[in-house]
Amino acid sequence: MASDYLWFEGIPFPQVEYRIENLRSVRDEFVVRDEDVITLSYPKSGTHWVIEIISMIHSKGDSSWVQSVPNWDRSPWIESTAGYERLKNQKGPRLFTSHLPIQLFPKSFFNSKAKAIYINRNPRDVITSGFYYWRTIKHVRNPDTFEQFFEWFLQGNVTFGSWFDHINGWLQMRGKENFMIISYEELHQDIRASVEKISQFLGKKLGPEEFDSVLKNVSFEVMKNNKMSNFSLAPDSFVDHSKGKLMRKGVVGDWKHHFTVAQSETFDKIYKEKMAGLPQGLFPWE
Ligand code: PPS
Repeated sequence: MASDYLWFEGIPFPQVEYRIENLRSVRDEFVVRDEDVITLSYPKSGTHWVIEIISMIHSKGDSSWVQSVPNWDRSPWIESTAGYERLKNQKGPRLFTSHLPIQLFPKSFFNSKAKAIYINRNPRDVITSGFYYWRTIKHVRNPDTFEQFFEWFLQGNVTFGSWFDHINGWLQMRGKENFMIISYEELHQDIRASVEKISQFLGKKLGPEEFDSVLKNVSFEVMKNNKMSNFSLAPDSFVDHSKGKLMRKGVVGDWKHHFTVAQSETFDKIYKEKMAGLPQGLFPWE
């Protein structure tokens, strides 16, 4: 089954839009600048939501940017071939995004003052969202059943590798001044407070009308209907749009409609083992 992916340093990537030599240059040669703003995540954790929030803060509440430029041009994925080309040549402060595990991220970041936001989500909901999403993506291993995807996820045999390794890796950055951690659940529970927190972290002050415009434009409904944000413009060579949508449900706890009791018990046991190195109660889903 290994031929279903492009493998780099033990991590599976889609076979299209990614190249080994690029992934190597991203890690070893790409120069992160102090004024860059980076969105980091394991796939299906709310990445697009954070990109939209950062974009709207960046444009001071003016929605014309998010309504006219696709999110992958506003905040390109550094590991994708197109994203890397674009970012290398981009002048001035850049926004960019990455699903890379910490060991594959540009080394230069760790000596920079660039600000990064790591968005995380209940891994049970990440599995659920991922099951529907990875069926739509071409050139990766597509799950037939939820059960199958659940097993692959626990083994780390899914695009971008193990969720457990990803979060344990990135959380080593916890407490650094230029590194913010926020959860999908926090955004859901209080979007106003979350946007406030993000704009403070970025050192951007918004007026009341600008702030309200950010809130309006990052809502699930508005993003779902914005073709620059809902992934509907992604090329057919990469995604089969007939099989599903990125903006699927946008809720907390959908896993409860998918996990069997046995899966839930298996998951809890593995979660406890793999997360033993982090203090308990760190995440809202614990
Ligand atoms: S990706 O493709 O890995 O970058 O996906 P990612 O953006 O990380 O995660 C997609 C899920 O985030 C949900 N989403 C939102 N939920 C609520 N409000 C807003 N504004 C929002 N934007 C994106 C999206 O619906 C996916 O979750 P599921 O559970 O599949 O609906």
